[in-house]
Amino acid sequence: MLPNTRPEWAALQKHYEATKGAHLRDLFAADSARGTRLTAEAVGIYLDYSKNRITDETLKLLFALAEASDLKGRTAAMFGGEKINITEGRAVLHTALRAPRGATVTVDGKNVVPEVHAVLDAMGAFADRVRSGEWTGHTGKPIKNVVNIGIGGSDLGPVMANEALRNYAQRNLNFRFLSNVDGTDFAETVRDLDPAETLFIVCSKTFTTQETMTNAESARQWSLATLKDTSSVAKHFVAVSTNAAEVTKFGIDTANMFGFWDWVGGRYSMDSAVGLSTMLALGSEQFAELLSGFRAMDEHFRTAPLAQNLPAIMGLLSVWYGSFYGAETVAVLPYDQYLKRFPAYLQQLTMESNGKRVTLGGDAVTYQTGSVYWGEPGTNGQHSFYQLIHQGTKLIPCDFIAFCKSLNPVGRHHDLLMANVFAQAEALAFGKTAEQCRAEKVPEPLVPHKTFPGNRPSNVLLVDKLTPFALGSLVALYEHIVFTQGVIWNIGSFDQWGVELGKALASKIVPELESASAPDLKHDTSTNALITRYRAGKK
Ligand code: F6P
Repeated sequence: MLPNTRPEWAALQKHYEATKGAHLRDLFAADSARGTRLTAEAVGIYLDYSKNRITDETLKLLFALAEASDLKGRTAAMFGGEKINITEGRAVLHTALRAPRGATVTVDGKNVVPEVHAVLDAMGAFADRVRSGEWTGHTGKPIKNVVNIGIGGSDLGPVMANEALRNYAQRNLNFRFLSNVDGTDFAETVRDLDPAETLFIVCSKTFTTQETMTNAESARQWSLATLKDTSSVAKHFVAVSTNAAEVTKFGIDTANMFGFWDWVGGRYSMDSAVGLSTMLALGSEQFAELLSGFRAMDEHFRTAPLAQNLPAIMGLLSVWYGSFYGAETVAVLPYDQYLKRFPAYLQQLTMESNGKRVTLGGDAVTYQTGSVYWGEPGTNGQHSFYQLIHQGTKLIPCDFIAFCKSLNPVGRHHDLLMANVFAQAEALAFGKTAEQCRAEKVPEPLVPHKTFPGNRPSNVLLVDKLTPFALGSLVALYEHIVFTQGVIWNIGSFDQWGVELGKALASKIVPELESASAPDLKHDTSTNALITRYRAGKK
């Protein structure tokens, strides 16, 4: 069903028309408790959502929409292993990846938790051997460099976690991430590495992804060019995949393969074997802390009432802006340098999940779905794109993420950093009026330029310290925000058919670029001309 045919949606539409002119200045002035009342706290995350363009009535209506959409029931279905990814006939069980040992999560009549822990144990044992130097390369040298070869969900989570948790990593291991099929990525990744000290993790759920397999093949050739002996592959290549047959075909011993399952979506897989590079960096104990952060947020999302439920509140607020205010984007602004790849990670999580134009039933939607997620760490972003958020013509809801304690306390740095978070959220909400400008003796012609309209919404997420646990809880928070949005919009958040057409067309074009004789081109005239020009240009 189209959710905008629900009476709860109509009530929100009416409420939007009645309240869209309200200013945060007035909402705060009318309620001295607003800044502490419109907050929620769970799993070590304090969420201040008071600077949103909402009233108590808005929340009531959003919660009513969530209930009418059966958010609770759909959540139970996901956690219970029902095949909610209907276009692929799959369960969606990334939550089982962090289920405690001894729990039961059943898929097709089978408890998957023992297998999850068997893989975690194998990853931990392997990581111990590499980290201690017991696992040596073909010539007997210990491993110094780990290169994860993967793309999309097999890259973005591991890259993000590697950056985010660098403070906790074993520093004598050097991690690199090779994703792009552009030969430059390969060349620059291996440029200064010694093959005898380099371990490649070929990370691909399907083990058929063109970019990953091309990079893996080039890595094997590069490695063998020095090590000479094909038996060295077993010491320098391991695989993360669901496809044992293709792993064997590539020449990797399946004893060195870390598996996962079709009920783990690529963009939801950083806590599966896809996190092998993270396990190598952190070791099994700290990886377990990461998982417990995920698990704690899962439990919160599954059990907390809507009014205290962080992912539900944030998911519903993004629906409010996206579908009612027509906001097209959400800016995620972490005030922590270690989280510099967090927005890039969220782009796949949010946009591959909810970039959908039909409902689960296949009807074209008549409302806005998935927002464009983007962002950069603060304070850098302040000196680049914040101007548009403050004074541009677009409404851009922001999520600020900040930590009370710095992992690198240096002089005044952390207070300065945090002062900027609070100042930005304050400036966005309250702005600066023309009267305030005049009181400051701003010359009249400059008053319009120096006026800030304010009323620009934001959430502030305040966490004690960036730890493996905190990272797990933050990632799970956004996973469940995405789920909440998908349930309200009644779309399939767990498939990604939209990436297929380009892949199919590229496979068709490859031989047309590589053939020695001029191919018979049957594309549109633009594509034909571009291919012809490229063939001439590359000679
Ligand atoms: O092309 C999109 C995609 O299928 C993503 O969903 C996935 O994360 C990525 O490709 C990589 O896939 P694989 O892990 O199978 O190589």
